[in-house]
Amino acid sequence: MGFVKLLPLLTTVVMVLGLPRKEELNYRLPDIYRPADYQVHLNLTADVFTESFSGYTGTVAINFTVTEDTREVKLHASKDDLQIQMVSISGIYLDVLDYNIENVTNILTINYPIGLVAGRYDVLSIQFSGNLSYDEDGFYKSTYKTDSGETRYLATTQFETASARRAFPCFDEPAFKATFDIYITYPVGYTAISNTPGTIVDSESASETIQFETTPVMSTYLLAFVISDFTAAKAVADDEVVHQLWSRNNTSNNRAWGLEMGQKMLAALNRFTGFNYSNVMKKMDQGAIPDFAAGAMENWGLVLYREGALLWNEDSSSNTEKQNVATTIAHEFSHQWFGDLVTMRWWSETFLNEGFATYCEFNVAHEVLPDYKLDEQFLVYVVHSVLLLDSYESEQALESEASTPEEVGQKFGVVSYNKGASIIRMVEHIMGTDNFRAGVHTYIENSKFDNAVPDDLWSALNQHVDNSLSDLPDELPVVMENWTVKSGLPLVHVSRSYSEITITQERLLLSGNDTSRKWYVPISYTTSEDEDKFTNTLPSGWLTPDSDLTITVPETASWVILNNKQTGYYRVNYDDDLWDSIAAGLLKEDFDGITELNRAQIVDDIFNLAMAEKN
Ligand code: BES
Ligand code: ZN
Repeated sequence: MGFVKLLPLLTTVVMVLGLPRKEELNYRLPDIYRPADYQVHLNLTADVFTESFSGYTGTVAINFTVTEDTREVKLHASKDDLQIQMVSISGIYLDVLDYNIENVTNILTINYPIGLVAGRYDVLSIQFSGNLSYDEDGFYKSTYKTDSGETRYLATTQFETASARRAFPCFDEPAFKATFDIYITYPVGYTAISNTPGTIVDSESASETIQFETTPVMSTYLLAFVISDFTAAKAVADDEVVHQLWSRNNTSNNRAWGLEMGQKMLAALNRFTGFNYSNVMKKMDQGAIPDFAAGAMENWGLVLYREGALLWNEDSSSNTEKQNVATTIAHEFSHQWFGDLVTMRWWSETFLNEGFATYCEFNVAHEVLPDYKLDEQFLVYVVHSVLLLDSYESEQALESEASTPEEVGQKFGVVSYNKGASIIRMVEHIMGTDNFRAGVHTYIENSKFDNAVPDDLWSALNQHVDNSLSDLPDELPVVMENWTVKSGLPLVHVSRSYSEITITQERLLLSGNDTSRKWYVPISYTTSEDEDKFTNTLPSGWLTPDSDLTITVPETASWVILNNKQTGYYRVNYDDDLWDSIAAGLLKEDFDGITELNRAQIVDDIFNLAMAEKN
């Protein structure tokens, strides 16, 4: 389990230890500001790259408008990391008494008696100084040792979810998308990289200034910059996207796999989404950071990793690590579309980012590395692990309220990642893969450079449903609603009387009962008589919140198994005779045609049903 999925645990520990409850505070900015472009200039002297000093200076100029008249600007600035030196709005300098940072929410409130007028653009300029942090979050300092034992320093960033405000004042919520022009001044001998390509625009004897090209319209949490003495391996892909893999020089032998997989995964994702990365970005940098809190982070055009998640060496690393590098790259690169180009509106919808990325981590990576059977590994590592967690009554829904930093942290758990990915895979098989991919393309086209909510996804997919294949009981947004807003999963009951199979549902809970919560459940099945066993994952019928389902199988069928390849997000329990017939089938040669994935389903379901005392 990655660091990110441990975040909920950490935040729970903090809450139990009884730190002050912050629920009363409003962490959100009023939705009336519309930043359009930021000019950010950060200035780092040579002292920053030593042990003793971590200060820097900066300016930010934000061209913004408001949707209604107001005398106040509210944005974010970290009180602990930044000192504000001067504030002006469209050339008018403000008194220090006119601005203040709230120290818990880090909301910087600026009073502007002249007032802002709806629709008019003003420029908010702030001069500030800051300190690099040491906690692997925000704009922070990392270190490593050279082969000769000398300590080297680098300055790097980790902004998700709410730490761009630790580097410079900004509207630090995912829906405040804008373009960014970033300038960094740093000592000669170092290299600065950011989301877009840069050009040196000023050179002095001891320092130089780099100007990065204007970014696409994007969220603050996806900005990144690294100022280091790293070196890079480079490759130019067929579509002319320049790939570079940056790491400390003494790891230069470990870059080849990450560089190769980077190009291949990006190409596979271009095919999967039908939207080329090169439409928006010219380059893709990957960086291996010696001190990195998460496993990896999907900053647009500058993906950062902990070293072990990107660097790999044939002689000294394992095959598990090799796979992990490939799938981590697939995950982070898929965010370039699902997260960076199309961003969830707020963290309550984190599954739109992390669920899609986890889906692609296996299912798109599978196209690059078919021998690894990542599509099959998905069932065991992604689906089964979350089916277990989601059987606890306390588990949260895919989409749920999150306001405080603790609640936002809770959204980066197994539900957003694994249930998100499992539900997306379920929809793929409800629609059929080709229609699903067409729908994903529509979703991206409709929401690119913008924010999305789950309904945007389901509606886009709905346009590509072919009801002669899917036989949907209602429109897709209706079918998907309970899967999205309610926690938990169905336990589907199957009983047989001759050729008639009766199918019902209840909520699966490890302890307790809940007969009120129901879903639209796609049912596929295979019998011992079928020629083509377990391959058709399209639904042959539906349970709905109001109706059970009856199907007819040949009387000669010795067994029937529901949920081909376990593409539906549910478990299945059978009456005793059916369980006996399945057991008899499994004992036959070649498991009587019951394929691997459905054998894995049966084993995992049985243990879990036993735990829940359902059989
Ligand atoms: N976006 C996350 C990283 C993140 C999330 C950082 C929340 C800080 C706060 C990234 O895409 C991610 O999910 N990383 C995983 C690895 C991935 C391969 C599953 C991680 O870091 O564990
Ligand atoms: Zn992710």
